[in-house]
Amino acid sequence: MPKPMMYGCIFTFYCCCLALLAAAQVTDPSEVSALRDVRSSLDDPMKHLQNWSRGDPCVSNWPGVFCYDTVDLDGYLHVRDLHLLNMNLSGSLSPALGKLTLLQILDFMWNQISGEIPKEIGNIASLKLLLLNGNSLSGSLPDELGNLSNLTRLQFDENNISGPLPKSFANLSNLRHLHLNNNSISGQIPPELSNMSRLLHLLLDNNNLSGSLPREISYLPKLAILQLDNNNFDGSEIPATYGNLSTLSKLSLRNCSLVGQIPDLSRIQNLSYVDLSRNRLSGPIPSNKLSENATTINLSNNNLNGSIPSGFSDLPSLQKLSLANNTLTGSIPASLWQNITFIPNAKLTVDLQNNLLSTIAGQLNPPENVTLRLGGNPVCSNANVPNIAQFCISQTQGDEQLPNSTNSTCPVYSCPTDNNYEYVPVSPVPCFCAAPLRIGYRLKSPSVSYFPPYIDLFETYLTSSLKLERYQLSIDSFSWEVGPRLRMYLKIFPPVSNQLHYFNATEVQRIRRIYTSWDFPRTDLFGPYELLNFTLLGPYSSSVLPTQNSGISKGIIVAIVLAAVACAVSISALITFLIIRRSKGNQNSLSRKHLSSKISIKIEGVKAFTFRQMAQATNNFNSSSKVGQGGYGKVYKGILSDHAVVAIKRAEEGSLQGQREFLTEIKLLSRLHHRNLVSLVGYCDEEGEQMLVYEFMPNGTLRDWISGIW
Ligand SMILES: *[C@@H]1O[C@H](CO)[C@@H](O)[C@H](O)[C@H]1NC(C)=O
Ligand SMILES: *[C@@H]1O[C@H](CO)[C@@H](O)[C@H](O)[C@H]1NC(C)=O
Ligand SMILES: *[C@@H]1O[C@H](CO)[C@@H](O)[C@H](O)[C@H]1NC(C)=O
Ligand SMILES: *[C@@H]1O[C@H](CO)[C@@H](O)[C@H](O)[C@H]1NC(C)=O
Ligand SMILES: *[C@@H]1O[C@H](CO)[C@@H](O)[C@H](O)[C@H]1NC(C)=O
Ligand SMILES: *[C@@H]1O[C@H](CO)[C@@H](O)[C@H](O)[C@H]1NC(C)=O
Ligand SMILES: *[C@@H]1O[C@H](CO)[C@@H](O)[C@H](O)[C@H]1NC(C)=O
Ligand SMILES: *[C@@H]1O[C@H](CO)[C@@H](O)[C@H](O)[C@H]1NC(C)=O
Ligand SMILES: *[C@@H]1O[C@H](CO)[C@@H](O)[C@H](O)[C@H]1NC(C)=O
Ligand SMILES: *[C@@H]1O[C@H](CO)[C@@H](O)[C@H](O)[C@H]1NC(C)=O
Ligand SMILES: *[C@@H]1O[C@H](CO)[C@@H](O)[C@H](O)[C@H]1NC(C)=O
Ligand SMILES: *[C@@H]1O[C@H](CO)[C@@H](O)[C@H](O)[C@H]1NC(C)=O
Repeated sequence: MPKPMMYGCIFTFYCCCLALLAAAQVTDPSEVSALRDVRSSLDDPMKHLQNWSRGDPCVSNWPGVFCYDTVDLDGYLHVRDLHLLNMNLSGSLSPALGKLTLLQILDFMWNQISGEIPKEIGNIASLKLLLLNGNSLSGSLPDELGNLSNLTRLQFDENNISGPLPKSFANLSNLRHLHLNNNSISGQIPPELSNMSRLLHLLLDNNNLSGSLPREISYLPKLAILQLDNNNFDGSEIPATYGNLSTLSKLSLRNCSLVGQIPDLSRIQNLSYVDLSRNRLSGPIPSNKLSENATTINLSNNNLNGSIPSGFSDLPSLQKLSLANNTLTGSIPASLWQNITFIPNAKLTVDLQNNLLSTIAGQLNPPENVTLRLGGNPVCSNANVPNIAQFCISQTQGDEQLPNSTNSTCPVYSCPTDNNYEYVPVSPVPCFCAAPLRIGYRLKSPSVSYFPPYIDLFETYLTSSLKLERYQLSIDSFSWEVGPRLRMYLKIFPPVSNQLHYFNATEVQRIRRIYTSWDFPRTDLFGPYELLNFTLLGPYSSSVLPTQNSGISKGIIVAIVLAAVACAVSISALITFLIIRRSKGNQNSLSRKHLSSKISIKIEGVKAFTFRQMAQATNNFNSSSKVGQGGYGKVYKGILSDHAVVAIKRAEEGSLQGQREFLTEIKLLSRLHHRNLVSLVGYCDEEGEQMLVYEFMPNGTLRDWISGIW
């Protein structure tokens, strides 16, 4: 082959290779440019989106961008989710979002984004979750959003949205959750919304809605939560047909300027929470007994008259009954508190203040767990009722408290708190120290008004949905906020079997995804939740999160890399061939460099042993040296060359960690000094083995750490 031709060949080949490498830009180019537009219309003071300027969205792990894991028929990867929760973003939303035509989740929750909601979002036919709550968005709701027929969740709460509720939303036939509370939406609730045959939770509280309450809402076949507090339906009545909403769990119409009578709600089988307070409702209270699930009945601050119906007695889940500030007459039935059969930790508050109640029918001896308020009634000046005074003074309510779960017997300094480690409060292994994921969480519309009796149920619900053990979840604190909403701070700990004492990246991604995709099974008792933050500290802070699922696009990357390598190899072969032909006899062979980049650490007092030293100490890991066996591997008694007696914990095949994790664990171990724990002497990280060498301690403590601690 003539030389020029050969070089030509090589050049062409080389170009091919470059082209192949360029094909690493595998995301649909129109989506790449859309993402760039989205970024440029946002202000990003914390530079969370800095990396959106390099590489490819799907392959280079742009923060918050998640892609489908297979290449589409058009040969491109497409963006599936945008998760930009709590990133301090301001600026506005670009209409270019509409070009992300295969998007399923659009999540900008809890930023400071302003401007209008681009109508182009209505083009994203595949959208399932549209989450823009907790921003400063203004303007009105675009009609075009009614085109999103696959949408299951629309959350725009806590913005400054004004204008009417579009009739086109009636086309959202898959929508389960419509959360528009805490905005300035005005006008009438369109009766057409009753076409949303799958709607479960309708939250429109704290807006400027007016007109009448549409009777048609009662046609919604699955509605479980209807919360419309703090609107102004001036002079409107509550349609009697709301008593047909058979799937309802919560009905909250507080402070809505409603008039007329209270409809009969006794046919609603699972009704847990009724708040009709602060209206101008009049007439008697319907006498039929409400659902046994009732936890909260608040009819205070109305113009109700007549007597207290006996139907409020014998409701086993009742936590709060308020009829205060009405004009109720007659006697107070002692059966309200006499026949109560409490569930554990339960409490009941009965508030009848400021009525015209004059006598007590029965004994005035409420049990300890019932708070009774009778002030402002004629009965308080009724000399015939003994002990009445204590119920007529105003009392301050005790705070709700978490049950004590921590045993503070663990040594204070043994858990390195500076790096986000702490004791797992109810760990089955005593004083298990681990790094939690920290989650800000809020129940937006719970159907309970007193939480402690439900904590157990709640923890079981969360952990089983997350596929975790109960002890892995700890509710750090909770508090009620206006709404009422229940804010909590959760910690999720790795299992005691986890040798690293923190979740690996796959697990963090899995747990985070369940929260951010609303993959929890539905619960009407606890209602919808809000994710406020998902904070990654200590060992988690280095994980570049949120990012691509690790499995995704690996295949593609591998293919590209293989192609590139094949290219490079071919070129090298050609060049080598040429060189060899040119300079025959020249024995200039390239020496292969052995790339052994073994990380090694130096920690005071911790020695690195060789495999040979370990084998000698244990007589070649002879079974006679074996003193124990844990999930992690076998433990041997060994004698080092300096005659020191040690225990050697040898990881089994399945328990091997990555080298970095292993060294991290050793660093952690070396910092733990606890008199009941054996101390670390050294480690061995050779020949594919991982061993930890401890001071040998007979019996007790040894059993402890074999069984799981260290
Ligand atoms: C951007 O990428 C660099 C290099 O991969 C990484 O160190 C950095 O943490 C990334 N920044 C963000 C905000 O993800
Ligand atoms: C947002 O900004 C505040 C201060 O302006 C800062 O304390 C906070 O850590 C930031 N949050 C995030 C998620 O960057
Ligand atoms: C809507 O959802 C259905 C069922 O999941 C799916 O088959 C369909 O492709 C989706 N439509 C769009 C436009 O993505
Ligand atoms: C989307 O909605 C708008 C307004 O509701 C309507 O005019 C338009 O025809 C719809 N587009 C599609 C593709 O359905
Ligand atoms: C009502 O109570 C029943 C029986 O205790 C229970 O199965 C059901 O889940 C409850 N419904 C709600 C909405 O809490
Ligand atoms: C009853 O009305 C009084 C006076 O308006 C108010 O101070 C009190 O908070 C009301 N009670 C309840 C339970 O709403
Ligand atoms: C309360 O219990 C007593 C007996 O324990 C019973 O006779 C009475 O009917 C009950 N009252 C109500 C309202 O259930
Ligand atoms: C009632 O309250 C007391 C303490 O105030 C508590 O010991 C008791 O267990 C409670 N009863 C029920 C049934 O919750
Ligand atoms: C929890 O324990 C602390 C101290 O031991 C005690 O003061 C507090 O009252 C306990 N709280 C509850 C709810 O039992
Ligand atoms: C606290 O310690 C005591 C005795 O050591 C034990 O019985 C109890 O179960 C522990 N409580 C928790 C929550 O671990
Ligand atoms: C996360 O939410 C919790 C609970 O609301 C709050 O205490 C904490 O400060 C929040 N952390 C961040 C970083 O926003
Ligand atoms: C991460 O942890 C989970 C559960 O402990 C485990 O099943 C999985 O294999 C781990 N993944 C990696 C990459 O280590």
